Amino acid sequence: MKTKVLVTGGAGFIGSHTCCILLEAGYEVVVIDNFSNSSPNVVEKIKEITGKDVVLYEGNVCDKSLLKTIFEKEKIDVVIHFAAFKAVGESVRLPLKYYRNNLDSTITLLEVMEEENCKRLVFSSSATVYGSPKTLPIKEDFPLSTTNPYGTTKLMIEQILKDLKIADDDWSIAILRYFNPIGAHPSGLIGENPNDIPNNLMPYIVKVANKELEILSIFGDDYNTKDGTGVRDYIHVVDLAKGHEKAIEKVLKEKKLDCYNLGTGEGYSVLELVETFQKVNEVDVPYKIVQRRAGDIASCYADPSYALKELGFKAEKGIEEMCRDAYNFVKKSKN
Ligand code: WQD
Repeated sequence: MKTKVLVTGGAGFIGSHTCCILLEAGYEVVVIDNFSNSSPNVVEKIKEITGKDVVLYEGNVCDKSLLKTIFEKEKIDVVIHFAAFKAVGESVRLPLKYYRNNLDSTITLLEVMEEENCKRLVFSSSATVYGSPKTLPIKEDFPLSTTNPYGTTKLMIEQILKDLKIADDDWSIAILRYFNPIGAHPSGLIGENPNDIPNNLMPYIVKVANKELEILSIFGDDYNTKDGTGVRDYIHVVDLAKGHEKAIEKVLKEKKLDCYNLGTGEGYSVLELVETFQKVNEVDVPYKIVQRRAGDIASCYADPSYALKELGFKAEKGIEEMCRDAYNFVKKSKN
């Protein structure tokens, strides 16, 4: 009997790549997605890439009756919870939208999981819960703090999960703290292609390279970093997806709650990423230096050793492959 995974937000950027990895690893996949930040054709692409079927329920994770229906119709063994709003800037402008959606969906999901006695969960958290770290690289036991409502929803949900585990030791939970996911599936069929003006660096670079946007604004070159621009730990989205498969193995095998950094341990500056992107794709990315973006930190990169020790996870793809795959996806989807 195959293990069946419910993937909330499975049509999203990280969710869709994770569905591909799970299907290719022999899991059965059920997706719930309301397509608020993705589209139904992504599910078709998942099927095209893997040659496997996906059971899709269109709807909102806040909808308790829909969740009950899914658990009654599908024998769910484990859940990966991606579905959430994730734009930092928007969360500052619309905090209630973020608290309502991200917390309500998670609490509703957990209530149904408890009622259905399905207590194995992989939760999509973020390195943003570390706030502005005093030292680097970042380890899982570093102090936690957040500077925006989006990050605070992630921190609050981590606390909810920890309290749930204390109340009921039957829960088996892996909290995954992502650093900066970029890139796309090598097929070029799925990737990150926000409909509006991107908030994040790589999708912005790609749109400038593809002449959909005129010029990249680099938010500050006066940070205390190698070249003055912000340093981040970019991880290929396919590597990140593989980290979720490892986390599923973990929650199926052991009954614990633990947190894991999913990063490469390498920090790259904005200028390094731009230069690498131009080189590997033989394309020009015009840019200008502008003032810092409020809330940004200078540097952030992971100590990935605990995920290696506990999950057997290590990112393998380098920055050049991330740049190549990111551009390949947009070139393909444009054609
Ligand atoms: C990376 C670097 C910017 C855009 C965010 C969220 C985090 C997570 C990942 C969800 C920084 C610089 C960016 C641009 C730029 N999301 N930059 N020009 O801020 O590290 O993390 O996305 O979990 O929660 O905070 O990623 O890609 O926005 O920025 O110069 O147009 O690129 O200053 O140094 P960030 P980012």
